[in-house]
Amino acid sequence: MTNRRKSTRVAAFLAGAWLVLGLAMEVVPAQAPTPSSPPPPSSAAAGTLPTTAVPFFAEWASSPHAEHAALAFTHWNSGGTIPTECAKCHSAPGFVDFLGADGTAPGVVDHPAPVGTVITCVACHNDKSVDLTSVTFPSGLNVAVPRGDAICMTCHQGLGSTEAVTKALAGMSDDAVNPKLEFIDAHYAAAGAILMGAQARVAYQYPGKTYVGRLGHVAPFTGCTSCHQLHTVAVKVEACAGCHKEVTDAASFHFIRVSKTDYDGSGDANEGIADEIGHMSDRLYAAMQTYAKTVAGKPVVFSAEVYPYFFVDTNGNGIADKDELRFPNRYKSWTPRLMEAAYNYLFLLKDPGAFAHNPIYTLQILYDSIADLGTKVPADLSKAKRP
Ligand code: HEC
Ligand code: HEC
Ligand code: HEC
Ligand code: HEC
Ligand code: HEC
Repeated sequence: MTNRRKSTRVAAFLAGAWLVLGLAMEVVPAQAPTPSSPPPPSSAAAGTLPTTAVPFFAEWASSPHAEHAALAFTHWNSGGTIPTECAKCHSAPGFVDFLGADGTAPGVVDHPAPVGTVITCVACHNDKSVDLTSVTFPSGLNVAVPRGDAICMTCHQGLGSTEAVTKALAGMSDDAVNPKLEFIDAHYAAAGAILMGAQARVAYQYPGKTYVGRLGHVAPFTGCTSCHQLHTVAVKVEACAGCHKEVTDAASFHFIRVSKTDYDGSGDANEGIADEIGHMSDRLYAAMQTYAKTVAGKPVVFSAEVYPYFFVDTNGNGIADKDELRFPNRYKSWTPRLMEAAYNYLFLLKDPGAFAHNPIYTLQILYDSIADLGTKVPADLSKAKRP
């Protein structure tokens, strides 16, 4: 992390009114103002409480959850409020509202949230979060998970599902272009959905195929809060290094390799599992490009940075050129088959930890997406292996 990022966060703490309020609610004991008791401390006084007195403050302040300037917290600034369908995961009051800890109905966001908040202590620490032991995914599937992990998965779960994709494409012929279709975006950093695999069904799962469920890794390293630190949310390098000798620092997780199968058929079964996945992902993109050009009749390019990610390759050079990455030039020649593959491609790519969250599920989804396009265009899977 750069110093700039860190100083923004600290400045954000001093400036963030909701955050100060949030901390005040955490650290100031509730006091009923009776005539005999002294007046309750004002929130201004609580706001000046030295942050060193707050447990885990520094850890939290260095985390992405406190990154006031992040797009995930500033995207709605010009509108003034965060709409109910976004507030749950993008603001502390929205999450508190969703849990029902503000006295409103649980499981639904009742009010738009104010802009300018981050994920403060009260989001994760309130009367309702302590009892949270299950998660409902966008597919409607509900899964029991340990306390703590349930908090993380309530936000890191994505916004789509096999069912939603199926419904959006119902009644259309697999390879017919439908100009009314807009890209279906499963959203970002959906670690919980990938970790739960078929128990969450947030990826597009192809009919007739079987998919693995929850991540099978050695105990206790099977949940968010066992691999990630609670408040910085950084992955615990030392814990991993105990078993995976490839891990030496925070940049080396992608070297981890235990399985012996050469999933991508590259001839190298010792490369990190993250690289096996990366190569399969590249192969999926290549198959999508071939399919778009030859079956949908309009070449496509992808950019991970620019919404809505898929654009027309106007000059046909196969590369995402800057002038192509404009919203009006977004890809509009979707066929159901291409949409299913593109949905999966972005969903997995937008979780940089997919290789750890559920490598088997990730490889199954990639393999099946390539194989499905492969029924129409050349996509070499002859040496690849579906786990
Ligand atoms: C189920 C939780 C959830 C909901 C609901 C949700 N998001 Fe997100 N969103 C996330 C998470 C988690 C991230 C963080 C991604 C990351 O760290 O890269 C994110 C990131 C973003 C970003 C930043 C992307 C970037 O490139 O940095 C934008 C913009 C965004 N969401 C928009 C929205 C909008 C608009 C809505 C409402 C229609 C919405 N989100 C609803 C969970 C959610
Ligand atoms: C993204 C969610 C999240 C945020 C934000 C967060 N915490 Fe936590 N914190 C947790 C989880 C999960 C635990 C584990 C205990 C549990 O299951 O509730 C925890 C545990 C704790 C504990 C108990 C530690 C222990 O060893 O038992 C304290 C104290 C604490 N948090 C304080 C804070 C403070 C103060 C803030 C704000 C500066 C904060 N937390 C912000 C998720 C969060
Ligand atoms: C209230 C919703 C919410 C909860 C609860 C939550 N997160 Fe997040 N998380 C987000 C958002 C939004 C972002 C993006 C913040 C940013 O871009 O700075 C994020 C970012 C992250 C990142 C960094 C992603 C990146 O792109 O760098 C990690 C890692 C993470 N969260 C892990 C966790 C863990 C572990 C827990 C549980 C202890 C948790 N989160 C709980 C919403 C949440
Ligand atoms: C087996 C250990 C493990 C488990 C379990 C785990 N993670 Fe991760 N997570 C990782 C690793 C390793 C990375 C990649 C970190 C890197 O490359 O810097 C990662 C990355 C992430 C990222 C992306 C961070 C970034 O830099 O963009 C998020 C968000 C995240 N994890 C959240 C979660 C959540 C939420 C859970 C629970 C549903 C979870 N993780 C469970 C190990 C784990
Ligand atoms: C007690 C030993 C142990 C610890 C600690 C441990 N792992 Fe593992 N890990 C294993 C074993 C054994 C496997 C292979 C079998 C399995 O998946 O459970 C594995 C598999 C993996 C894989 C898949 C590798 C492949 O080739 O498919 C990843 C990624 C991974 N671990 C990441 C992590 C991360 C990240 C941490 C630290 C948060 C961690 N592990 C901690 C023992 C461990």
